[in-house]
Amino acid sequence: MTGLLQGRVAVITGGASGIGLATVERFVAEGARVVIGDIADENGRAVADRLGDAAVFVHTDVTDEKAIEAIIAAAVDSYGRLDVMFNNAGNQGDVSPMSDLNADGFDRTLALLTRSVALGHKYATKQFQKQGGGGTIVSTSSTAGLQGGWAGAAYTASKHAVIGLIHQAAAELAPLGIRSNAIAPGTIMTPIMANAFGVPAENASEFLRYLEQELGPKLPIGRVGLPEEIADVVVFLASELSRYVTGVVVPIDGGATAITQGSFGVDVVKAAEEFSNGARASA
Ligand SMILES: NC(=O)c1ccc[n+]([C@@H]2O[C@H](COP(=O)([O-])OP(=O)(O)OC[C@H]3O[C@@H](n4cnc5c(N)ncnc54)[C@H](O)[C@@H]3O)[C@@H](O)[C@H]2O)c1
Repeated sequence: MTGLLQGRVAVITGGASGIGLATVERFVAEGARVVIGDIADENGRAVADRLGDAAVFVHTDVTDEKAIEAIIAAAVDSYGRLDVMFNNAGNQGDVSPMSDLNADGFDRTLALLTRSVALGHKYATKQFQKQGGGGTIVSTSSTAGLQGGWAGAAYTASKHAVIGLIHQAAAELAPLGIRSNAIAPGTIMTPIMANAFGVPAENASEFLRYLEQELGPKLPIGRVGLPEEIADVVVFLASELSRYVTGVVVPIDGGATAITQGSFGVDVVKAAEEFSNGARASA
């Protein structure tokens, strides 16, 4: 690794598993010290123990405003400052269809996936200002933040709203020297995939392999993504390499949202041919 985050202090929510965990490991490899915030205490502690002085774990439920304030304070207590905030914790949220929307579930999903990101911005900004300098914020949206049909209504609305927040952050925070960007992962092999479809934990690995075979070939790049491939982009957005980048959302989806689903290009050519042939026949 190349020391891209040497000396930086980061808070990473959802750092006990999946994308967050891969990012914790990558940040530490790049020279950062990391505070891991998660509700999965056992996993989170095990990760911090393995990383020694470079990481600490703090039990953090991101739906609780006080907990977000506390994890920023923990970064200052442990490592003296904050340079990077990665708002990443989440789950599939309420999966009820629009025709049978669960109002409480919708609110809970927004609190988990959107309000937490807004509050992460709030408390990271306060700390950056206290330090008298800037900082960087990265937040996890999704391909479901760019298009419909990837997930349920609550998740889709929440992840679209994350992109609204980083646009607003660019307007309000860039003058303070704070950059804020989002990532939009596509189909990434993490435990969230099994949870989202109700597959029991003991069958999760088998299910992920099955998904990989079924879904991978349908993507332009021809395979599903790995958490490490998301972590690489987060390092870029957190580091000086992206110093002129704010308010953007980076899809990391093997090209999924770059193309139309299905075979529109082929179908429209066929339809045009059929129309022309029919028109000629009736002329
Ligand atoms: N895996 C994908 O395909 C995919 C695609 C797009 C977006 N995402 C997003 O990526 C982020 C990370 O998901 P992942 O795939 O790594 O899943 P994951 O289940 O592996 O990790 C999510 C982590 O968030 C933690 N968490 C859940 N609720 C929390 C809460 N209230 N407070 C604190 N921590 C909490 C979990 O304990 C877990 O450790 C989520 O925001 C998810 O919506 C994932």
